[in-house]
Amino acid sequence: MAAPGKFSAKEINPLGSLDEWEDDVLQRYPDPDTIAKEKSKEEYRNYDDPARDTVREFYRLNHTYQTYAFVQEKRKDFLQFNRKEMTVWDAFNFLNQLVDDSDPDTDLDQFQHLLQASEAIRADGHPDWMVLTGLMHDMGKVLCLFGEPQWAVVGDTFPVGCAYSDKVVYPEFFKLNADYTDPVFSTKLGVYTQNCGLRNVSMSWGHDEYVYQMLKDYLPEPGLYMLRYHSFYAWHREGAYDHLLDDHDREMLKWVKLFNPYDLYSKCPTPPDWKQLRPYYEDLVAKYLPSTIKF
Ligand SMILES: [Fe+2]
Ligand SMILES: [Fe+2]
Repeated sequence: MAAPGKFSAKEINPLGSLDEWEDDVLQRYPDPDTIAKEKSKEEYRNYDDPARDTVREFYRLNHTYQTYAFVQEKRKDFLQFNRKEMTVWDAFNFLNQLVDDSDPDTDLDQFQHLLQASEAIRADGHPDWMVLTGLMHDMGKVLCLFGEPQWAVVGDTFPVGCAYSDKVVYPEFFKLNADYTDPVFSTKLGVYTQNCGLRNVSMSWGHDEYVYQMLKDYLPEPGLYMLRYHSFYAWHREGAYDHLLDDHDREMLKWVKLFNPYDLYSKCPTPPDWKQLRPYYEDLVAKYLPSTIKF
C-alpha cells in the first residue's frame, strides 16, 4: 500500500465512474416508490455485480486514508480557493469534463443530475433557494478535476477526530485508519465536546464540505446544511452521532432529509429541456450568486 500522497492510479480512481458510488447509495436506500412499483429489491441486491467490488475497494481506501490530519491538510489547501475563478455557467462546463467512459449509454452528465434534482425540487413547489441548492449541490465534484482521488471527493461522509460509528457503511475498514488506535481520536468524543454542534466537527473531506465553503455566504442556512451534509448518511438516514449534535443541527436535520430524495431519486431518462429552462435558471443564479465563483 502506497503512503498517502503517493497513490497508484488504481488507488486514485478505484471506481469506474463516480456514479458507481451513487448507484451503491441507491442500492442501500432504494426509492420507496420504486419498491412499491415492484421494480425489485432483488434487482438492487445484485451481489455479483462487479461494481460492488469497486465500491468496496473505494471504501477501503476512503476509510483508510480519511484521517483527522488528512482532512486538516485538505481544508488548508482547498479552502484557500486559489485555483480557478469562473462564472457558474463555465463551472458547469468544467464539471462536465468529468465524463464516464465506462458506460456512456446509461449515465447522464453531471449537469443533468443537478438539473434533474433542481427541477424535481421546483416541481414540488419548494422555495427558489432550495432549487438553487439542488442545482449546485454536487459542484464540489470538480475536486476530481484538480487531481484529487475519488475517495477524497465522493462517498458517505463521517466525522473525523473521534470514534467512527458502525453506522457508517463498511465500518470494518476503519480498522485500517491510523486514527483507529489513537488514544484521543479513538474515543467517543475525541477532540470534541458533548453536543458541540456539527459546525465544530471536521467531516471526512469531499465535495460536500467543499461546495458548502464555496457557497456559504450566498444561501440560507437550511440550504447550507443540505450542501454540507447531503452525504452524511450515518446521520440523516441512520441517526448516528447524536452526541455531537446541538439543537440547531436537530432543527436543520429535517431540511437535510427533505433534500435527500431529490438527490437520490430524481434521475429520469428524459432530460429536462435546457433551452426552455435556461432563462429561469439564469435569473435564479443571478439572484443569489455573484458573477463569478472561486474554486
Ligand atoms: Fe453529492
Ligand atoms: Fe447529487
